[in-house]
Amino acid sequence: MKTVLSGVQPSGRPHLGNYFGAIRQHVAMAASADTCLYFIADYHALTTSRDPDALRVATRDVALTYLALGLDAERALLFRQSDVPEVLEIAWLLACVTGMGLLERAHSYKDKVARGLVPNVGLFTYPVLMAADILAYDSDLVPVGKDQMQHVEMAQDMAASFNAAFGPVFRRPEPLMPREELMAKVPGLDGEKMSKSYGNDLWVFESGKKLRTAVNRIVTDSQPPEEPKDPEKVLLFRFLELFLAADELEEWKDRVRRGGPDAPGYGHLKVRIAEAIEAHFAPARARREELIANPAEVDRILAHGALRARARAVAVLDRARSACGLR
Ligand code: ADP
Ligand code: TRP
Repeated sequence: MKTVLSGVQPSGRPHLGNYFGAIRQHVAMAASADTCLYFIADYHALTTSRDPDALRVATRDVALTYLALGLDAERALLFRQSDVPEVLEIAWLLACVTGMGLLERAHSYKDKVARGLVPNVGLFTYPVLMAADILAYDSDLVPVGKDQMQHVEMAQDMAASFNAAFGPVFRRPEPLMPREELMAKVPGLDGEKMSKSYGNDLWVFESGKKLRTAVNRIVTDSQPPEEPKDPEKVLLFRFLELFLAADELEEWKDRVRRGGPDAPGYGHLKVRIAEAIEAHFAPARARREELIANPAEVDRILAHGALRARARAVAVLDRARSACGLR
């Protein structure tokens, strides 16, 4: 049986791209036979966060999101990174076998500095903490997006360096990248990739008037409805494809291809998109409301996850301490 581990940054409201590109797979994996550990990376968030209330709210929001979207917390462990402080000690042990050069080559660090962020030491050593997260639980598989791939490779390197120096302590993790062809790359309202940083995103739990307003922002051209069109070139269809059943989708595409007096206008398509999103996430939205009304339940789940995760980290740390002479 494999141990699957992933960390999620508490960075604001998850959007359709996060759902189709990551959360949905995480939830599905937890339903299989693997042991899955998902944690909310609040220590990592402190490399940039200076607002304690915002961090608390965002951390809570990740938990609500995963649970509402169907994560089975009886099978998977969901917890806060900071509830397992053993990772900090493991991070120190790894830091001591990691060359500066390895961290200096990190793309995400270089990108952030290039964008003008004044780096703190935490940001520089971010990959060491991430390696500790991964290695603390004897993880086999780490599902991540492309941007995090290099960090997982660095965790492999750090595990190998430590093991070379002190004997076999850490298990080698493998990154699990979404297969390109299965990977839903969700467009934003402007047609670029959906991303929080582009301001073109749509919160998965948006509903009612706000949802309709957001959907109305999806970019269209000014061709009249009667004009026959290629649905592949109409951005609205990228959204319909995510939600509609194949036969209904084909019917809309046919009508748009044919054009003429019966063809739907962009307004019609937008109404259908808003309805479909609303319906798709309705059960999750209801579940989220239930969880908000019952904070003790969320606390219980996070505490249970932390307790079990911590037991694993304690065992791994114990091995590492003995191996390097701290015992
Ligand atoms: P953002 O770009 O909004 O900051 P993140 O980089 O935090 O999003 O991404 C978190 C996860 O969601 C990653 O696994 C990433 O691959 C996935 N993801 C983000 N945006 C999209 C998108 N538009 N389509 C598909 N997956 C996405
Ligand atoms: N760095 C990851 C991100 O920004 C979050 C993360 C922290 C993580 N620790 C991890 C992901 C360990 C996978 C495994 O998305």
